[in-house]
Amino acid sequence: MKNRSLVSINDYSKEEIIKILDLAEEFEKNPRQETLKGKVIASLFFEPSTRTRLSFESAVQQLSGSIIGFASADTSSVSKGESLKDTILTVSNYSDLIVMRHPVEGSARYASEVSPVPIINAGDGANQHPTQCLLDLYSIRKTQGTLDNLDITFVGDLKYGRTVHSLAIALCHFNARFHLVSPVELKLPSAVKRHIKEAKLQYEQYTSLNEVINASDIIYMTRIQRERFPDPLEYEKVKNVYNLNNSMLSGSKDNLRILHPLPRVNEISIDVDTNPKAYYFEQALNGVYVRQAILASILALK
Ligand code: CP
Repeated sequence: MKNRSLVSINDYSKEEIIKILDLAEEFEKNPRQETLKGKVIASLFFEPSTRTRLSFESAVQQLSGSIIGFASADTSSVSKGESLKDTILTVSNYSDLIVMRHPVEGSARYASEVSPVPIINAGDGANQHPTQCLLDLYSIRKTQGTLDNLDITFVGDLKYGRTVHSLAIALCHFNARFHLVSPVELKLPSAVKRHIKEAKLQYEQYTSLNEVINASDIIYMTRIQRERFPDPLEYEKVKNVYNLNNSMLSGSKDNLRILHPLPRVNEISIDVDTNPKAYYFEQALNGVYVRQAILASILALK
């Protein structure tokens, strides 16, 4: 991991993933250290974010590092027409590592190819979100006591949901049984399904959520990604297709936990928030420790 960019979850082996999760556990016990003292992290967000951007900022600041950057392309010289390459080459003069979110699929890979400092992909269009994937794995391991042999139910926008793509690929290391609940228009892309097949694992596709709730160890709810639809009318047809509420959980397993990368729109009723099986806000907190582990590993400080 030392000095290597993190662009896709495919960049990390199973052993490297577990190493990050173990290190994140150490940071959870002691998140305020001087690990990043003297280091400058750049945070370039060309797309909106609350959790990813702020948990990276919190992770850096709690480890005594400095963070610079922008939260919107409008406040950078990109708005004057500057290219991504020129932006990356410039910002790399000011920083030891760049965290970048960008709406274009493949932009993080391109940035990593032109950058003299490591790039962390904080989401590239509908493609990948590897740091979210690592915090999702951390949350699953923490709540289930294992990552192995679990029934994982993904619900919602499996086509455009980059967090689903990264997590499904990573779970192929851990013998997951996949339940894929989506409208027919928003099924998991074939490239990700091919990955599952190549790992010789099973997946089932459904349009109804009710039939798989009671078999699930994890229900991973997702938002329908309005901003990725080429046609707004197509979004209108599916925008409220799933709504998980407390009564639907009455026969669920005791160990079931409900995850969501957030932000939520309508797909989880607020009555679920007080159910002990709801885990999405703790999941967001885990992002701080996991991102501390990622930064420390790439900068070879742990
Ligand atoms: N999970 C996630 O990526 O959230 P943000 O868009 O708020 O960063």
